[in-house]
Amino acid sequence: MSWTESDSSIFGEIADVAVPRRAEMMQRIVAAVPFARDEAFRIVELGCGDGRLASELLGAFPAATIVGLDGSESMRDQAGARLAPFGDRVRVRPFKLESLDWWDLMFGADLVVASLCLHHLNDARKQYLYKAVADRLSERGALLIADLIEPAHESARRAAADDWDRAAEAQALERPELFKRFLDARWNHFRFPDPADRPSPIFHHLVWLRHAGFAAVDCLWMYAGHAVFAGFKAG
Ligand SMILES: C[S@@+](CC[C@H](N)C(=O)[O-])C[C@H]1O[C@@H](n2cnc3c(N)ncnc32)[C@H](O)[C@@H]1O
Repeated sequence: MSWTESDSSIFGEIADVAVPRRAEMMQRIVAAVPFARDEAFRIVELGCGDGRLASELLGAFPAATIVGLDGSESMRDQAGARLAPFGDRVRVRPFKLESLDWWDLMFGADLVVASLCLHHLNDARKQYLYKAVADRLSERGALLIADLIEPAHESARRAAADDWDRAAEAQALERPELFKRFLDARWNHFRFPDPADRPSPIFHHLVWLRHAGFAAVDCLWMYAGHAVFAGFKAG
């Protein structure tokens, strides 16, 4: 994979500054879950990182279980430590996002979630994945995604780049060294595009999700070139 352990280390250091309104973004995913608080349902998370979103989901839905998949050993270690209090409601496993050998884990799952991970796939692989998820989810299931979004127009790219820098600076008021780290790492994709990052326009995501078989698709939140969007099996 093109994501390296060095990326995991930098992300771990700067994420709270580098991800615009991270807590709000995660809460939008939690709020979009189409199950009642006490329902027992099964979640698969793609690129679970340090387990923060999984922790929010398991806390909000006390009968839910989750399989967290990630390609980085250090991220899996952090997720394992963070999620240990949830006991056997959690499994953390390695995976390669680009391979298909983990797709069976999604059979009969109720929720697939992915935060800041799917932009590592090219357009064709995103479309295959959306179809694979739609075909495997249970009938009330949903795919909930937070990710970078490719601006469709130069004016939108400028706005995303500026908003992202402003958000990072504002989030670093108490730790200005992290804003410097964000700038030095050239983390703002809209200023410093990295070929390993392949975000797609929100309009494309929604069309692909609809074509994959989701009855209702929508964008639930968008800020600084980041969006939360979803496909729901039941309209
Ligand atoms: C930007 S981090 C996001 C982590 C977490 N989801 C969050 O929102 O804080 C991207 C995560 O995706 C994982 N990842 C990236 N590319 C991957 C790939 N090709 N295969 C498996 N995991 C990958 C990384 O290890 C990392 O944990």
